[in-house]
Amino acid sequence: MKAVAVFPAQRRVAVVAHEKPQLAGPCTARVRTVEVGICGTDKEIVSFAYGTPPPGSPYLILGHEALGRVAEVARDVAALRPGDLVVPMVRRPCPHDSCLPCRTGRQDFCTTGDFTERGIKGAHGFLAECFVEEDRFLVPVPPDLRDVAVLVEPLSIAEKALRQVEQVQRRLPWGCPGGQVEPTVRHRALVLGAGPVGLLGAMALVRRGFETFVYSREAPNGPKAEVVSALGARYLSALSFSPEQAAAEMGSIDLVYEAVGASRLAFEVMPLLGPNAVFVFTGVPGRKAPVEVDTDRIMRNLVLRNQVVFGTVNADRSAYEQAVEDLRTWCAERPRVVRSLLTGRFSLDEAPARLRSGMGGIKNVVVVESD
Ligand code: BGC
Ligand code: ZN
Repeated sequence: MKAVAVFPAQRRVAVVAHEKPQLAGPCTARVRTVEVGICGTDKEIVSFAYGTPPPGSPYLILGHEALGRVAEVARDVAALRPGDLVVPMVRRPCPHDSCLPCRTGRQDFCTTGDFTERGIKGAHGFLAECFVEEDRFLVPVPPDLRDVAVLVEPLSIAEKALRQVEQVQRRLPWGCPGGQVEPTVRHRALVLGAGPVGLLGAMALVRRGFETFVYSREAPNGPKAEVVSALGARYLSALSFSPEQAAAEMGSIDLVYEAVGASRLAFEVMPLLGPNAVFVFTGVPGRKAPVEVDTDRIMRNLVLRNQVVFGTVNADRSAYEQAVEDLRTWCAERPRVVRSLLTGRFSLDEAPARLRSGMGGIKNVVVVESD
């Protein structure tokens, strides 16, 4: 079968002929790939800055944001049937008995670092005509989400992040979104970055009742600003607002959802957090020169204003399921907004060149099987 692979030692990205995988145990399914989304992580992998092939393989098959259709199931797979749509999870547990998270289905919190991630670290991905996976890593998707379900994986990142925000804010028993009492004032969230993770995060925040602002470098009247207002948030362009001006415009910042991987901006915004606020990091920055940070100011605020800063990666099964549910609600309410996030579609054969040249738009998708 055809697959798109990166050869790190040869610094090459190509379509390869890879042996078609077969069912590999009583709980596995063979899945025909429908679509695969491309993200910043893939761009890092094709520039050879990230990504590891499976042991013994000269190449890594790319692709971790997939939608597929079950082709065949092994004996003990009860919940899936041929024809069902599924989204595969990305991370697989490490082998160590001592890793409690991996032993309890929470490899997204793996403590050893020996997890694998399909299409990223030590395991082939889904940018191929088909793949085989255990049913516990396959999340069912209803047929009416066929055109947008490739967004489930990036949305699962936001779902895990916001779940944790809710858990953190239970420390405030009065009216926080997700708290014990319905909020009487709307909490204000600032999303840093207007890429897919930022925009999906903004949608999830709007949905949870946050007054949501998205801050990014794009012009105030560009296409991303349009998507931001269509999804019910307000766009603040860095061309018009400094971080201080953005904070003043908002009145107070109760939550920052960082989704851009720019550490300088993040640490410029951190001292602007309001009382009892939470700052969530989801971006992975590249390595740049160190920047000067007013650590006393940040630390004073963290203490005197009860602030919390945390980072989050990957997602557990319930976050994927929540992503499916949220997508379903949004598609019922604002189908055009959800579709507008998907800005480019191209074929598997075009993928190596497109991946290496950069693509623009919001979410670009490789169409593997059209029906
Ligand atoms: C993926 C995550 C993964 C992370 C780090 C992201 O692009 O969506 O599933 O854990 O990269 O490798
Ligand atoms: Zn990704």
